Amino acid sequence: MAKQKQVFFCQECGYESGKWMGQCPACKTWNTFVEEKVVTGAGKHTVKAVGSAPASILEVTTGEETRIGTGMKELDRVLGGGIVRGSLVLLGGDPGIGKSTILLQVCRHLTIDGHKVLYVSGEESMQQIKMRAERLGDFEKDMYLQCETNVDSMESAIEKLSPEVVVVDSIQTMILDDVASAAGSVSQVREVTNRLMQIAKRKNIAMFLVGHVTKEGTVAGPRTLEHMVDTVLYFEGERSSIYRILRSVKNRFGATNEIGVFEMMTTGLSEVKNPSEVMLEGRPINAAGSTVICSMEGSRPLLIEIQALVAQTNFQIPRRTTVGIDYNRLNLLMAVLEKRAGIHLGNCDAYVNLTGGIRLSEPAIDLGIVLALVSSYRNRPIDAHTIIFGEVGLTGEVRGVNMAQQRVKEAAKLGFKTCILPKSNACNLSTIQGIQLLSVSNVKEAIDFI
Ligand code: TYD
Ligand code: MG
Repeated sequence: MAKQKQVFFCQECGYESGKWMGQCPACKTWNTFVEEKVVTGAGKHTVKAVGSAPASILEVTTGEETRIGTGMKELDRVLGGGIVRGSLVLLGGDPGIGKSTILLQVCRHLTIDGHKVLYVSGEESMQQIKMRAERLGDFEKDMYLQCETNVDSMESAIEKLSPEVVVVDSIQTMILDDVASAAGSVSQVREVTNRLMQIAKRKNIAMFLVGHVTKEGTVAGPRTLEHMVDTVLYFEGERSSIYRILRSVKNRFGATNEIGVFEMMTTGLSEVKNPSEVMLEGRPINAAGSTVICSMEGSRPLLIEIQALVAQTNFQIPRRTTVGIDYNRLNLLMAVLEKRAGIHLGNCDAYVNLTGGIRLSEPAIDLGIVLALVSSYRNRPIDAHTIIFGEVGLTGEVRGVNMAQQRVKEAAKLGFKTCILPKSNACNLSTIQGIQLLSVSNVKEAIDFI
């Protein structure tokens, strides 16, 4: 007999509990428990395990890994060289950032290359999709649209059409009949993804799943969703800026943290081939508080302008605001400046801004932030042809970072004349023409240079 059971799920991490709780014991977030009805016993959707007998690793043959090119080099790189057959890719991002647009463009390229594609939308009507598609260019007939929220009907469409790639827009709108709770709830999203995964593996179809994000910026629904899929991509960017950054945070078939940069045009997204040049375009020359840093995003060095504004505060508690970098990191670096370099920022407001709508978390940008702060505080510009990288420790030491050679090379390529970098990196570096290296071992030395 089928029985209905009431359970509560944490919408953040998927933790299951028999009663409502204010705080999730697993992920410690507040007010995330939502009641869901789950059917147990007969009719319960069970996941069949994929069985195989144990075999020695030497006997396992991998065969040729075939990848399907998406027609967009930036996206191919983020995916690790193209779409892998039978893989599940989760694409998350704020509403209106361009998730549906990029996937429609991918579908267009795939059908032009002769692949069969099914685009299932639970959010838009056929007419709406068609209208958007017309802005992107001409489509081939092997591009199939389905407006459906029921996974079973979707499965029969897949059986009938046998597409090579399926797009599901979005996972939160899909439902399975035998799961009692509403679309978008934890149990629904989990079971739907499970079923899609089985279809993908059984029929060797690559699937793209669009996921909505929560206020905190993670894919809505259980965190477990990220564990289930093979690849997780996030679309970042300020809505006001035309640049969009696609970042891989998990990839079973390639490097993570790889980014692709796109530009939103009236005809869809177009690739940005030289992001550093574009990001540095129009930056102020010889302005106090502006510096250029170099961050490695995956395998590619990226040069970005960082701006700081330090001013006497008019408030009881000084204000600190960041855009694109971690707020706590700024507080930490200001404390280091105060204690190790004797620069008193305790009664100053500080605003730090990474231009271009990108978010960076690499510690190698620390030294750039520190020097931008000092430059603004002293109202003394740093030479516009200077590039800075290095991690700053709590004792004020400047620590080495990885892939220094690539960073310096990229800077030299873009016409930078001076590079301030950690001493430990400078000694292992082969000379690069046209760029002078200033090596520093602590924050104080770096400040003396500017
Ligand atoms: P959309 O792809 O629907 O975003 P999501 O699926 O992530 O919610 O949104 C695209 C946004 O970009 C929308 O605000 C309109 C705009 N846009 C363009 O600027 N140019 C275009 O060619 C298209 C198709 C959309
Ligand atoms: Mg959409």
